[in-house]
Amino acid sequence: MTRRRQVYEGKAKILYEGPEPGTLIQYFKDDATAFNAQKKGTINGKGVLNNRISEHIFTLLGAIGMPHHFIRRLNMREQLIRQVEIVPIEVVVRNVAAGSLSKRLGIEEGTPLPRTIVEYYYKDDALGDPMVSDEHIAAFGWAGQEELHEMADMAIRVNDFMSGLFAGIGIRLVDFKLEFGRLYENDFSRIILADEISPDGARLWDMTTNEKLDKDRFRRDLGGEVEAYQEVARRLGLLPEGGDPVVVDLESRRGKGK
Ligand code: TMP
Ligand code: ASP
Repeated sequence: MTRRRQVYEGKAKILYEGPEPGTLIQYFKDDATAFNAQKKGTINGKGVLNNRISEHIFTLLGAIGMPHHFIRRLNMREQLIRQVEIVPIEVVVRNVAAGSLSKRLGIEEGTPLPRTIVEYYYKDDALGDPMVSDEHIAAFGWAGQEELHEMADMAIRVNDFMSGLFAGIGIRLVDFKLEFGRLYENDFSRIILADEISPDGARLWDMTTNEKLDKDRFRRDLGGEVEAYQEVARRLGLLPEGGDPVVVDLESRRGKGK
């Protein structure tokens, strides 16, 4: 077997060279980090669940006309994606006060926001991903004016779609983070949705109990991380009877002595 060339390793994923030019393989790890990687851990089976959840959401978004990097899932932990140039801006959309917004502005977690808020963070681990405004983004050229509008519009469309999707399965979409990439076609580039959409980068609360079904379980040492991710997958209809993908994956890996 030939070893694939690793293109990039992030905190939760690895990117490998894809089978054709312009493609990559996105591998989902079980590694979890929080607070700019000051807290590190492993959530057994998280990668399998995030691969499946992200596949599902990207596929649905594609069906409503949202351009994205996802091509197809290859196996339990890998998906084939289009190679893009990642825009160094994390776009956060908030419907309900939580996390850093609650801390910064002293608004109690769980308070519905008077309107949806879009925020930008500059992707720089050394700086701890600082919040920036559209002025900073324009001044430093991290994204063009048109690109930024495109990203904000797409983020709102994703929010509208996902709020409804999750409400339908009894989950409140509190907030989430998106990343975008530039897809080059001849002399032009266009913005498409990239990275992943999973409980790692979203706050998902059970609508009746307010139970957290996302990475805050890890960030805040609440326990039951994998059960929470599994619950999200189950409600999305992604866990077929008798075939829990996490158990299957862990057993197959054990079988191979890994
Ligand atoms: P925050 O409240 O910590 O700013 O996070 C807002 C949302 O964005 C939350 O759903 C988690 C997500 N997020 C990430 O996925 N990665 C990050 O680096 C940060 C800061 C937030
Ligand atoms: N994933 C980011 C980190 O490692 C932040 C977070 O999600 O809390 O640090």
